[in-house]
Amino acid sequence: MTRAGDGELRAFVNVCRHRGHLVAQGAGCRETLQCPYHAWTYELDGTLRRAPRSEREPEFDPSGLSLLPVAVDTWGPFVFVNPDPDAGPLHEALEGVPQMIADGGLDLDSVRFHSHHEWEQQVNWKVALENYLECYHCPVAHPGFSKMIDVDPDSYSLIVGEKTSSQLGPVRASALDGSGRAPYDARGDVGQSQYHFIWPNTTINIAPGPQNISIERWVPLGAKTTVEVTDYFFGPDIEETTIQEVIAFDSQVAEEDVALVMAVQKGLDSGAVKQGKLMTESERLIASFQRNVYDALTDAR
Ligand code: FES
Ligand SMILES: [Fe+2]
Repeated sequence: MTRAGDGELRAFVNVCRHRGHLVAQGAGCRETLQCPYHAWTYELDGTLRRAPRSEREPEFDPSGLSLLPVAVDTWGPFVFVNPDPDAGPLHEALEGVPQMIADGGLDLDSVRFHSHHEWEQQVNWKVALENYLECYHCPVAHPGFSKMIDVDPDSYSLIVGEKTSSQLGPVRASALDGSGRAPYDARGDVGQSQYHFIWPNTTINIAPGPQNISIERWVPLGAKTTVEVTDYFFGPDIEETTIQEVIAFDSQVAEEDVALVMAVQKGLDSGAVKQGKLMTESERLIASFQRNVYDALTDAR
């Protein structure tokens, strides 16, 4: 991804048009991108500026050798790229999620990047996401979380979009008045937790209390290895001690979830149980996810 002198954000396939070496790694401030293999050099708008010895090639035409562009767009502090030339615009992929986040009391334009965490887990990515998509397990498996968030099915809302889904969990009154031993003091601008899923493997989390949001990519590294890549963002004037409380709250849930999904993967690996049974109310976000997986694999749409 580049931001050239004209101020425009662009994104490219990071593969050299010469013989395929990766062009750029890491991040920094530069005027050009130079491939480390044979020094083909690209402008920040992707055009090929110079290829050593090209003047000795009678027919060398740099114009058809630009880095391949991909779609890029932003939403708040987040940058999304899409290598599919037929993909629709970002705002369509996000469906109702930005509105729900704004309605929840978060000012997405004011938050700043804080820190990056990765959780690697020996599971298929779909097992990890199916776990994300239900809170039926919360009362049993997340006791600290359930002291903070009202996970009762009559309070905890499940919203199914076409390619997104959302879970909105109100904070318990006992977590706000300090009587319920909640993991941290959740008084603040944000009165509910929000968990959004954006097809196929992005999730967005908001904890109650201060201005906070985290975004995750669930990246399959193999059939049974997934890395959950989380970036945390907080409002500009949130105290570091508060930030660490929110991250500890989230990390506790993440660690509990990793143990759950690894046990599920072991169970599935037995091969003994051919099919599960979804709860049609509490697990309807999983049903929607599975339909989208099925459609993608069968190209039904
Ligand atoms: S592969 Fe990039 S310059 Fe040769
Ligand atoms: Fe969980």
